[in-house]
Amino acid sequence: MSQNLWSEVDEYFTERWAPSDPALDAAERDSEIAGLPPIQVTPIQGRLLELLARLQRARTILEIGTLGGYSTIWLGRALPADGRLITLEADARHAAVATTNIARAGLSEVAEVRVGRALEILPVLATEGHPPFDLVFIDADRPNNPEYLEWAVKLGRPGTLIVVDNVVRRGQVADETSEDPDVRGVREMIDRIAADRRLSATAVQTVGRKGYDGFALVLVVDVD
Ligand code: SAH
Ligand code: DHB
Ligand code: MG
Repeated sequence: MSQNLWSEVDEYFTERWAPSDPALDAAERDSEIAGLPPIQVTPIQGRLLELLARLQRARTILEIGTLGGYSTIWLGRALPADGRLITLEADARHAAVATTNIARAGLSEVAEVRVGRALEILPVLATEGHPPFDLVFIDADRPNNPEYLEWAVKLGRPGTLIVVDNVVRRGQVADETSEDPDVRGVREMIDRIAADRRLSATAVQTVGRKGYDGFALVLVVDVD
């Protein structure tokens, strides 16, 4: 079992179930031209995000970590016309590319990019009186994942689905001796989820063109 095989199978499903489309292709191309790192979710992972948002019947989505807006477009497409997606991005250059990509996908009315460090924007969001988010996608700086998880619960409701990208990282997550701040951030978040009665979680390990990684799916359940 090898990266080649994973990429081949990824390609096989992508051709059939997440085939190229003008807005997504343009988003990838312009992100690359602008020099953004090519670390967006893959097409079939984007489809997974879209399906999860549809299963949730999501009307409101919060995304932490926009990059060029590729995952934003997948999530935004799951929303009804009067739905709302807020996506947070620390890098103004990334946010500018994303804003163009989102507009070209016809999602300007639905998706709003907010520029700034997520931990500075999240407390502001909490004061703005938004209805609880139905789905939160966490995909930014992993050392802050424990804090992002807490904010996701605070800005959600029982029934909110929290999706976290990059929780496996070629298996590094299982290395308890790791001093990598990313790994430690993910592990701390995982332990907090384990200790929190309000949360029920599973991990979906993935292989594909981006290698071996995975998503955490965390449901806020009704307690008491
Ligand atoms: N969700 C995107 C990929 C996001 S990559 C997709 O799949 O298409 C991670 C992004 O998080 C980068 O653009 C990075 O600039 C941003 N980021 C890193 N630290 C951040 C922070 N503290 N607050 C907000 N965004 C941050
Ligand atoms: C990488 C992948 C990601 O999905 C991400 O959010 C950050 C980094 C990577 O492959 O390096
Ligand atoms: Mg990611």
